[in-house]
Amino acid sequence: MAGLFATSAMAADIKLPEPDKTNTATLISALENRHSDREFSDKALDNATLSTVLWVAYGVNRADGKRTIPTAMDKKDLNVYVFNPEGIWLYDADSNTLKQQSTENHLALFKLQDYMQPVSTVLVYTGSNEEYAVMHAGSAYQNVQLYAAANNMASIVRGFFEHEKVAEVLNLPEGQRVIISQAVGWRK
Ligand SMILES: Cc1cc2nc3c(=O)[nH]c(=O)nc-3n(C[C@H](O)[C@H](O)[C@H](O)COP(=O)(O)O)c2cc1C
Repeated sequence: MAGLFATSAMAADIKLPEPDKTNTATLISALENRHSDREFSDKALDNATLSTVLWVAYGVNRADGKRTIPTAMDKKDLNVYVFNPEGIWLYDADSNTLKQQSTENHLALFKLQDYMQPVSTVLVYTGSNEEYAVMHAGSAYQNVQLYAAANNMASIVRGFFEHEKVAEVLNLPEGQRVIISQAVGWRK
């Protein structure tokens, strides 16, 4: 489950546009193009693209509510947060909504490497399963890297950020922990 604020909806929650599932790149070409980007444009992600990225990461892909990634015993313990200049948002896959957790810009917590300066969207994966949460995050970030490769976008998985401060601003409940982050945007 998500942070303390998740149950009390903030006024600025965002209903995302439907994810765009029309990309025609093949899986093989996405695998051929998958790589880490360290040259980002300062162009922000629009909500339509963000919606697709989040669906790719952890969206509902079947009528029974199951997701684009497998989770141990289908517990869906993973959470995906979006950090951007407008604040922190929790992705609610069932309602395709971003639930606002904070109105403050905390992107500086991820900008410990120069190439991160232009980045304005960082995903943070959190989870509670002691053994498997790391695997769930890995499945989600790989989905996003493949989508980025197939869509001329830039992405990089990043372990180098202020973990403790990120956990603090997320106000994670007991048992939830920060696993990894991923910058997503457009290539320079
Ligand atoms: C769990 C994980 C953490 C990573 N952390 C960082 C990081 O903090 N900074 C960075 O520049 N790259 C980071 N990377 C990216 C790796 O350096 C990159 O995947 C590796 O050099 C291979 O390059 P490629 O992804 O283009 O194949 C991370 C990758 C993974 C999987």
